[in-house]
Amino acid sequence: MTLCIGLRVFTQFPTKAMRGSDPTRFTGHRCPWRNARSFLDPETKAFLEENTEVTNSGSLTPEIHLRLLTPTCRFWWERAELWPHSDPYWAIYWPGGQALSRYILDHPDVVRGKSVLDLGSGCGATAIAAKMRGASRILANDIDPRTAIALNCELNQLSPFPILTKNILDLEQEKWDLIVLGDMFYDEDLADHLHQWLKNCFWAYGTRVLIGDPGRPQFSGHRIQHQVHRLVEYSLPELTRQQNNGLTTSTVWDFSPDRS
Ligand SMILES: C[S@@+](CC[C@H](N)C(=O)[O-])C[C@H]1O[C@@H](n2cnc3c(N)ncnc32)[C@H](O)[C@@H]1O
Repeated sequence: MTLCIGLRVFTQFPTKAMRGSDPTRFTGHRCPWRNARSFLDPETKAFLEENTEVTNSGSLTPEIHLRLLTPTCRFWWERAELWPHSDPYWAIYWPGGQALSRYILDHPDVVRGKSVLDLGSGCGATAIAAKMRGASRILANDIDPRTAIALNCELNQLSPFPILTKNILDLEQEKWDLIVLGDMFYDEDLADHLHQWLKNCFWAYGTRVLIGDPGRPQFSGHRIQHQVHRLVEYSLPELTRQQNNGLTTSTVWDFSPDRS
């Protein structure tokens, strides 16, 4: 996946170290909630406020305001090497997440009164959509600790929900009514790992799994394709198209695996 942001070109998605590791390994770390938090340390907060812009335009969900990296931000134009952290995937509202969030906002019954895990939450928009539509319990999970999710909750006048920055794929699985994944199938190894992990959740707990994907080859060419059905396809707004190298649509898929 390539994302051009001014001088900054993200050609690769997170490195191996950021991905899940062994899909069969549930190491018995109990209660991931213990490490979840819903606030930012003052230094990170200041950094995020200085280097992002509040926006609600150019996405499928104008109802949601987010702190994102935009052309008004210094690092949109700055040389990539000057960015002091790992690539800020959390600072982009990806097409897969946009489709999922739109779907949740338009179909509140999908989340109302339900426990929801947003895996690979990024900017947190899909978790925010779930909170707006009455999910009873939410966990946003992203391995990047600098995500602006806590600030984005505030922006949308929502009380904060827990944010877990551990790799949940390495933790013991928990029961969730719904797991949502926006644009998480961008790497083959990660796709394999997610597939196995989601199958386990589905069979162990009857968890519903919704996937938002704009037609990335790691998703459309993956064997998971035989185990999903299309719920809705959205046409992407012009700005999202421009920032995503010609992608034009994004689809929400419902996962129902077989036992193999
Ligand atoms: C393409 S972004 C999608 C963000 C958001 N869901 C959206 O659609 O806007 C992928 C996100 O997944 C996170 N990520 C990558 N591997 C992960 C893992 N094993 N567990 C949790 N998050 C992960 C990255 O840090 C990044 O923020």
